[in-house]
Amino acid sequence: MIRSVVRGTGAALPRRIMKNADFEGMVETSDEWIAQRTGIRQRHIAGDDETTASLGEAAARAALANAGLTPADIDLIVLATSTPNNTFPATAVEIQNRLGMHHGFAFDMQAVCSGFVYAVATADLYIRGGLAKRVLVIGSETFSRILDWSDRSTCVLFGDGAGAMILEAGEGAGAIADRGVLAASLRSDGIHKDKLFVDGGPSTTGTVGQLRMEGREVFKHAVGMITDVIEATFSQAGISADDLDWFVPHQANKRIIDASAKKLGIAEQKVVVTVDLHGNTSAASVPLALAVAVADGRIKKGDLVLLEAMGGGFTWGAVLVRW
Ligand code: ACO
Repeated sequence: MIRSVVRGTGAALPRRIMKNADFEGMVETSDEWIAQRTGIRQRHIAGDDETTASLGEAAARAALANAGLTPADIDLIVLATSTPNNTFPATAVEIQNRLGMHHGFAFDMQAVCSGFVYAVATADLYIRGGLAKRVLVIGSETFSRILDWSDRSTCVLFGDGAGAMILEAGEGAGAIADRGVLAASLRSDGIHKDKLFVDGGPSTTGTVGQLRMEGREVFKHAVGMITDVIEATFSQAGISADDLDWFVPHQANKRIIDASAKKLGIAEQKVVVTVDLHGNTSAASVPLALAVAVADGRIKKGDLVLLEAMGGGFTWGAVLVRW
């Protein structure tokens, strides 16, 4: 059977780093409060010349270099983002053009923080359905542009950045030992749409809007939703937490990550954590964390890796990949 095998990963971060202490003169907060409640110590913030498209392009080029490929080898780009450069055209198409790629096709996906997990599951279906052989899957965000910088309950949580992964069609035996995407489980429920949202848009206010969140409500649902979808993925693949080599969760809050890993029985040393360095970069958080763990040699060929995310909508999902 056809499997979607990981060929390479890459990442890109804005030049400017903003530390927790940098908020102290802007809103009533402290490094201690932010670090204790979230695990975040710093985040990158895009400059005027840095956009979702430019960061996505840089992450894509890094992933291509890591895979030893060029844009000519790619036939589909799927970009997960909630902060596109423009309402349309899709920022994926802009990245396609920046890469000098004038063949194939490209589109954006919008599932907020779950965007990258949705995009990997989608790319896998395009590959297994025979519509694409090599897919560039990107998560790129500039949440700094939709934050209310006077709201301490949200502005300290998010950061900008991009991560990318190249999936390629390969042969598998249909077994758990195969390399590639092995199982996926996606969920959404719009009953929660007002708990984490942006208060503007083309069809309502005609403006971009700003992020609003009931943090406590999100927190309350996060662990249960994350563990449900992971257990569904485990049962699809016929594995348990002990079989995992690495757990790469969405990087929103260290307390959510710890509580989810504990509930699932995933050992602490198998959890990849980058929220301290990047903050919550929404759809970019999982591929940024992946790129870090690949670059430092933790994630290796043959490892069983579980990706997970949950975000606005709510949307949530998990993907199991043999590296
Ligand atoms: N600095 C200092 N005090 C603050 C800050 C801040 N930056 N933000 C809020 N507070 C205050 C609140 O006003 C409140 O004060 P009060 O008691 O006088 O009313 C107090 O701190 C406690 O607020 P809570 O909201 O109860 O704090 P909590 O421990 O829940 O932590 C947080 C807040 C970090 C937002 C947490 O709820 C959380 O992480 N929720 C999940 C949200 C999330 O991660 N969203 C990301 C997108 S969704 C996703 O990706 C999963």
